[in-house]
Amino acid sequence: IVVDKGGHRHFMLKEIMDQPQAMTAALKDRADFANGRVNLPEFPLSPADVMQLERVVLIGCGTSLHAAQVGRHYIERLAGIPAEAESASEFRYRDPIIGPRTLVVSIGQSGETADTVAAMHLAREKGATLITICNAEESQAARVADGALYMHAGLEVGVASTKTFVASLTILQLLSVYLGQLRGKLDAETTRRLVDQMARGPGLIGEVLAEANLYSSLARRIGHYDNFLFLGRGANAAIASEGALKLKEISYIHAEGYPAGEMKHGPIALIDPEMCTVALAPRDDLRDKTLSNIKEVKARGGLVVAVLTKGDDEAASEVDFPLFIPQAPDLLMPLVTTVPLQLLSYYIALLRGCDVDQPRNLAKSVTVE
Ligand code: AGP
Repeated sequence: IVVDKGGHRHFMLKEIMDQPQAMTAALKDRADFANGRVNLPEFPLSPADVMQLERVVLIGCGTSLHAAQVGRHYIERLAGIPAEAESASEFRYRDPIIGPRTLVVSIGQSGETADTVAAMHLAREKGATLITICNAEESQAARVADGALYMHAGLEVGVASTKTFVASLTILQLLSVYLGQLRGKLDAETTRRLVDQMARGPGLIGEVLAEANLYSSLARRIGHYDNFLFLGRGANAAIASEGALKLKEISYIHAEGYPAGEMKHGPIALIDPEMCTVALAPRDDLRDKTLSNIKEVKARGGLVVAVLTKGDDEAASEVDFPLFIPQAPDLLMPLVTTVPLQLLSYYIALLRGCDVDQPRNLAKSVTVE
C-alpha cells in the first residue's frame, strides 16, 4: 500500500479532502442509481427476518458513537424501526434487553476498539443479529459480526477520524433506506428520490472543500479562544459533539458539544466574551429554533460562528462569522455540516503548532480498556 499525503501538509488534511471519494466508494455497488434502489448483499438477514425486526441498537466509541447517533435518526425516519444509540463503553456494563429481533449495529473505523468488540460479544451472547460497519477488513469486529458492511474508505492515517466518519454516515444511510425499502416504509418513488440525493453527496462535500482557504483565515481570527461550545439540533446535535471532539483532540482546546435545546439548562451560564460558540443552523425545520439560541448567546456578549445555508442573510446578520454551506437535502445535511467543523479544527490546530496527525495522549485505535 502506498501511503502518502498527496501533496498535503498532513494526512488529516488529505483525508478531509478525500471525503468525496470516500463517500463514492461507500456507495459503489450498493446505491443502484439506474433503478433507484439500494442493494446490500452483505446484509445477513432474509427479507422475511427484516420484517420481524423490532429494534435497532447502534453502538460505537468516540467519532463512531457520533455516527451511531446520526444513524439513529436515519433508521427511525427511513426504516421506521425504533432505534437507539449508545456508547459501546457503557452498553457493555448494562444488562441490555435484546434478543433475536434486535439488530445491533456496531460502528468502528478500526474494528479493534476493545469496548466496541466487548459490547459486540455481549450482543452475540444475548442472541441479537449483529452487523458491523467498519473500515478495516478482517478486523475483530468483522469476525464477531454476522455481517460486515465495509466502508472501503482506504487507509486512514490521521489519528482524528474524518473520512471514515463520512463513510460511516453514508453506510448508515444505505442501511436505513435498504431496511425501509424491504419493510415497505419507503415506496419506490421515495426510495428513488433518496438514492438520487445520495448521488449528490460527494459534489456537495466537494463544494465545501473548495472553500477550504476561508477556514484558514477564520482560524486566525478565533484560534486564540480557549473555550468553545458547539450547538446543533436533531442529527446536527451529534455533529456538534463531533465538532467539539475534533477540536479538543487536535488543538487541545476545551470544547463541548451540546444539543442546542440543552443550552438553557446549564451551558448558557458559561457564555461571556471569552466563549466562542459554533452553531449549526442550516436551513431546515430546526433552523429557527437554533437561531434563537444564537440570539441568546449574542445577547450575553458571546462570539458566534455559525454554519448556515448559502443565501441565509437573515441568520448571517445575527452572527460574527457565518460559514456558508450549500443547500442540501435533510439526508445529506449531517455530512455537509461536518466538513466546516473538520476544516476549522485543522486550521486552528495548525495555528497553535499542534501535532495534527499524532495528537498527544491519543492512539488511533484503543485496543485496551
Ligand atoms: C476519532 O477522531 C478518535 N480518534 C476516536 O474517538 C475514535 O473515533 C474512537 O477511538 C473509536 O475508534 P474506532 O472507530 O476505530 O472504533
